[in-house]
Amino acid sequence: MSKNIIVTGGAGYIGSHTVVELLAQGYNPIIVDNFCNSEKSVMDGLEEITGKQVTLFEGDCTDKAFMSQVFSETNPIGVIHFAAYKAVGESVEKPLAYYHNNVVSLLVLLEVMQEQNCKQLVFSSSCTVYGTPQKLPVTEQSPTQKAISPYGNTKQIAEDIIKDQVAANSGLSAVALRYFNPIGAHSTGLIGELPLDIPSNLVPFVTQTAAGLRNELTIFGNDYNTPDGTNIRDYIHVIDLAKAHVKTLDYLTGKSNFYDFINVGTGKGTSVLEIVNTFEKVSNQKLNYTIGTRRPGDVEQIYASVDKLKKVLNWQTELTVEGALRDAWNWQLNLNRKDIKTQGIS
Ligand code: NAD
Ligand code: WQD
Repeated sequence: MSKNIIVTGGAGYIGSHTVVELLAQGYNPIIVDNFCNSEKSVMDGLEEITGKQVTLFEGDCTDKAFMSQVFSETNPIGVIHFAAYKAVGESVEKPLAYYHNNVVSLLVLLEVMQEQNCKQLVFSSSCTVYGTPQKLPVTEQSPTQKAISPYGNTKQIAEDIIKDQVAANSGLSAVALRYFNPIGAHSTGLIGELPLDIPSNLVPFVTQTAAGLRNELTIFGNDYNTPDGTNIRDYIHVIDLAKAHVKTLDYLTGKSNFYDFINVGTGKGTSVLEIVNTFEKVSNQKLNYTIGTRRPGDVEQIYASVDKLKKVLNWQTELTVEGALRDAWNWQLNLNRKDIKTQGIS
């Protein structure tokens, strides 16, 4: 039986690592991407790592005719839907673009899945749906809070749309994975996070600063109510996150009219200063940083309860923050060697 899996956004950061893990577990990933936030060179990295040429359909997931054609030609058993815009700050400036891309792509996908009888969906959600949690660690029973950005709202809307489609007895079985903070890169240094603009996320900013592409990192506040005063997050190695998707596909096999959501994190909180100190240790670099003011909208601390992840998927993360930072640095060094300009450097 075909084990074709459509991976929308498969050329992106998390998608590309998931493609590697899918192939390793006997699935046949088919990438659908319009490269609005990724580079075609990712395909070369994937080929070098896996020794296989991964099928690519270049196009826009909001284009229903295109998506129908992709499904007709490949007859997939399931979909992992990564394709979305993801910059929180930009979503405040361009809400319509975010609602259009993130919501319409999901609607089109669900319509085509229904029309072509494709029943398994793994959806990229985010811990952002929890807002500022009342209690830590955050369990799946923790209440979601009204999103403070259009980006966050697209994730809440998307989860509701999927839940409603399952409730309508469409035969769909779906899991929304609520990711915490993915960091790191493939251990080969051949794929990793490739910000096309100035990174707003911590780790790419750290590696670019150490590589001399940025003057200094600003730590956004050290006056929080945490042990060292800086924010705490649950940083998960992107390879672990990729594996969680394959486990979820396995879990969905044979299910019908089923919906659930699962936190995907390590269960451990790490502060911004701990990230900086660990990075300095693994890279043997002194990082130029300064303490700045708080970034509006930042949550003081958040980390996942991973009880459900362990129970439902019978799996937990295996890699460390230290290893993730080492891999991120190795990736950054490779980018510099190849003199890749698409890092928000004009
Ligand atoms: P990314 O930008 O690296 O990858 C997304 C990919 O989707 C890109 O290759 C982009 O070109 C493609 N894409 C976007 N819109 C498209 C469209 N309409 N048609 C075709 N392709 C399209 O992002 P990522 O970090 O890999 O994130 C993947 C998913 O995970 C997103 O849905 C994001 O919201 C979610 N997520 C990411 C994080 C994070 O910190 N990276 C955290 C939580 C959730
Ligand atoms: C991490 C920590 C910053 C940059 C975002 C989205 C969230 C999810 C993951 C998609 C924070 C601090 C950062 C810098 C810093 N994405 N920081 N200086 O904010 O936890 O989450 O990405 O769903 O929705 O909001 O991640 O990497 O931006 O920040 O001090 O230059 O690093 O204040 O404490 P965040 P991040």
